[in-house]
Formats: sequence, C-alpha cells, structure tokens
Amino acid sequence: MPRKHEPPYVVRPSTAVLTRGFDPRLSLGSARPAVFRSSTYVFTTPESAQRAFEIALGKATPEPGENVELIYARLNHPNAEILEDQIVPLEKGAAAAAVFNSGMAAISTVFLSCCGPGESFIFTTPVYGGTHHLIHTLLEPLGFRPIPVPAGDGAALERAIMGAKDLRLVFLETPANPTLTMTDIRRAVEAARGAPQGPLVAVDNTFLGPAFQHPLELGADLVIYSATKYLAGFSDMLAGVVLARDADLVANLRGTRAILGNILQPDECWLLNSRLPTVTLRMNRQSKNAQRIAEALNGHPALRRVLYPSLLADPDQIRIRDAQCDFPGGIITLDVSGGRVAAFSFLKNLRIARDAVSLGGVETLACHPRTTTHSELDEATLDAAGISDSLVRISVGIEDWRDILRDLREALDGIRIPPGPGSHPV
Ligand SMILES: Cc1ncc(COP(=O)(O)O)c(C=O)c1O
Repeated sequence: MPRKHEPPYVVRPSTAVLTRGFDPRLSLGSARPAVFRSSTYVFTTPESAQRAFEIALGKATPEPGENVELIYARLNHPNAEILEDQIVPLEKGAAAAAVFNSGMAAISTVFLSCCGPGESFIFTTPVYGGTHHLIHTLLEPLGFRPIPVPAGDGAALERAIMGAKDLRLVFLETPANPTLTMTDIRRAVEAARGAPQGPLVAVDNTFLGPAFQHPLELGADLVIYSATKYLAGFSDMLAGVVLARDADLVANLRGTRAILGNILQPDECWLLNSRLPTVTLRMNRQSKNAQRIAEALNGHPALRRVLYPSLLADPDQIRIRDAQCDFPGGIITLDVSGGRVAAFSFLKNLRIARDAVSLGGVETLACHPRTTTHSELDEATLDAAGISDSLVRISVGIEDWRDILRDLREALDGIRIPPGPGSHPV
C-alpha cells in the first residue's frame, strides 16, 4: 500500500511502533501524522468509488498492493488506519487491530459480532461493572444466553464450555477487576478448541496488556482493551482496541463498527498514537512501583489482605500467574479491616492518591469498587465474587514509589471508625 512506510527488514516491537504505518509524505512531510478530520473523502473516479464500496461491503477483496480509496469516516479514516497499523506490533501474535471510541464500545462490538440471539456465550465473574451491565441489561433481554463461570475455576470453565448449547464466545477478564483473580487462558483455549461449535476466545487484557500478558500467543482469538487505561496512560481520553491473529475477524468487527458508528475519532486516534511508544516504559515503572508498595504494605495491621499477583498464596493461582504473566502489573487491591466505614476513612485520608475510578494513568488513583465501578452488580454476585465492602482498588502511577507508599501508610494509620450501631473498632 503506498500509504505505508516500513523498513525493508524485520524490526522489534519497540522500533516498529515508531516506524510502521505512517508515511510522512502523505502529511506534507510532517514528522507526526496530520489529523484528518474530514467526514467524507473525494473519489478519484466513480469507478474507484464503486470499487471502494464493493470492498467495504465484503463483495470483493482488495488485490495485493491495491490503493483502495477512503469513503466516509464512520467506516474508516487515515488516523484510525495509522493507529491500527502502529498498535499491532505491541501485541504479540496480532495480525490486525480495530479501534473504538471506548473500551465498552470495543466489548459491545465483539459480543454483537461474535454471538447472536438464541446463542450462548461464557463469561468469567467478576467482570467490570460496565460489561456486567451490557450482558444483563442489553444482551440477555435480546435473547443472548450468558453463562457465568467463576474466574480462576478452570474445571468449571471446561464443564461450561463442553456443556453449552450453540456456544459462540468465551469471554475472559483476567486478572479480574478488582479481585485480580486469574483465569488460565491456555486451558480455556484448549477446551474451546475441543467444543463442537469451536467458540472464539476473547480476553479483556486491560489490566496486564500489552506489556505483561499475551493472550494471542496462548491461543486466544481476540484481545480487547479499554485503551482509556494503560494504552492512553494519562486519564485524558476514552478509547478501545481489539486485536486478533486472524485479520478476517478484525474485518468482521470493522463491519459491525461501521453500523454502530463507534469508530475512534481522528483527534483521539492521533492522541492515542502518540502514547503507544511509551506504554511499555510506563507500565514497567507502574509495575515496579506497585510491587514495592504491595509488598511493603503486606502485613499492615489495618489490612486483612493485600491482593496482588506477587503475593498470591493459592498454588493454582501461582501456577497461572507464572504461566501467563511476565510481571505483576500496577493494580493493587487492599482488603481493609473494618468494612466500608474503614475503607471510606482510608480514601478520605489520602493526600497524593486521588479517589477516582479508572486506572492505568501516570497518577495514582484509588476507588471503592463495591459502591462505584462494580455497583451495577447485585449484592449476591458481589458477595460471590469477593467484592466486599472492605476492598479498595489502587491504580499505581509513575510517581516516586516512596511518596505513594507513605501516603497509603499514613492513610491506613489514620483510619477512624466513628462509634455507632454496627461499627466495630479496628
Ligand atoms: C477491565 C475493564 N474492561 C473494560 C472497561 C471499560 O472501558 P471504557 O471505560 O474505556 O469503556 C474497564 C473500565 O474501567 C475495565 O476496567
């Protein structure tokens, strides 16, 4: 494709993300891509317009090296193309990517493309509250058949995969938000391959990818991101990405995206594009910071437990971690003694970390999942998933880890539980 400008030899991912997918000659020599805000594109000839539509509608496939003209920005635009090309080398095993205007847009498009009314899909619990909402408020009433399986329970997942009727999709969120429970991706893939309908396996890789967990290499078909988090990294935009080993799967998602109109807009593509070369640097620093902090806080008298991948005790969870995670990542969940009152007191005491939902940004954020990110889940589901009133999720940033540790320690030391009915001193 003339739009591409690539070195004539294979380069490593951290180089490819800076060299692939963008030809400065197509942006008047600008070293950074221009932003193409146009909603519609002028055709060279009516024949080239006809050809572009035939290809867009799947009636024809482009010849190798053919320059297919752009049509309309809901279908595709240059900044999406550049971003989609540049993100591929970051995800081990990926052949193609599609970008969306939020993580939820990416997740919804995967469900709507891969499964239909009357068909089943399996999902691990807990899942992010928005995904839970999508499943139960939209997909289930439309006739989709969701089958929940507890995160980390490989045997239950295998049984569900073998027993489900018309199974189209196995959706794993691992590590799970906010409990960090890990599900064995390879085991799920092997079970799915043995299932009669050959369901696709999709992994929400928001917590550890693309730096520390590589589901496509473990055999998964689709990797999904809330790119709002680590990929964008500065808590200043919303985006979603889906990557696959099979470019045809991505083409199918782009078809649904054109109908739903949830492609990432040009300015946002441009912004996310500039964040890609530093995602691994930022995530490495966040993981190192988080590991030091989690291990230093472990055993603090105001805590019942510190949930963090380097502090796992369960042998099966340790096995899964060692098999599929390169580093533990930047999310720590604290289990505070004293329930919601103590958790809220802790959040109020913080001076550096801010009480906000979302994660993956360069600044440290903390939130109370049961009353915020996971408040869509009913009480029974929250209890079964272990999302108790005493959990606080911390997304560790790139500040000096000693300052964050001090902030968290002082906030724990300062927990006060006012006397009153039902409250117990810590
Ligand atoms: C694991 C996970 N997946 C998906 C999402 C949804 O992403 P977005 O807010 O970009 O729509 C979130 C948001 O917090 C998340 O934590």
